[in-house]
Amino acid sequence: MSPSEPTARRALYPGSFDPVTRGHLDVIVRAATLFERLWVGVLDNPGKVACFDTEERIGLVRESLRELGADAGLDPSAVEVVSFRGLTVDLAARLGAGWLVRGVRRSEDAADELPMAWSNRICGSRRVETVLLPTSHDLAFISSRLVRQIAAGGGRLESFVTPGVERALRRRFDVDR
Ligand code: PNS
Repeated sequence: MSPSEPTARRALYPGSFDPVTRGHLDVIVRAATLFERLWVGVLDNPGKVACFDTEERIGLVRESLRELGADAGLDPSAVEVVSFRGLTVDLAARLGAGWLVRGVRRSEDAADELPMAWSNRICGSRRVETVLLPTSHDLAFISSRLVRQIAAGGGRLESFVTPGVERALRRRFDVDR
């Protein structure tokens, strides 16, 4: 089965977003131009210790999208942010999304993403295709893990995350400069 209506123009961008970075936001903004509807799915993984809990991560994605606002040419209402547990393909099926979006920063990312894309195409109750979007080259060095390390050390974060996320990280790591 190839993606067909009503799933053809509906996409899900799943991830941990712990926290959301400017790299993630670049992928969201660009994916929003490709699809009629876009959901950002924030993984709620009770087995994994996260820097921010699921509700905080969702709130930071929403706040970041509002902060980017018109500057990025994004209508924040075009993107919905939801949490999920279990398999990404099951959430995609519930949302009626026929596409998954993932950002790729370098070849190592692609090596990790391909098995996930192949698996996701065949492991769900309906076929889901994956679109791999290259992150903008000037943001390709950014990762949530790097952001957490810099935040813990009290470094400057404005190139990595939006002001709202930076404030949340400063509170979390109790660092003020
Ligand atoms: O931002 P991340 O941590 O790279 O996102 C990874 C994520 C959430 C996309 C991946 O771990 C995932 O899809 N988890 C849900 C469980 C699932 O569907 N696993 C099968 C993938 S083949």
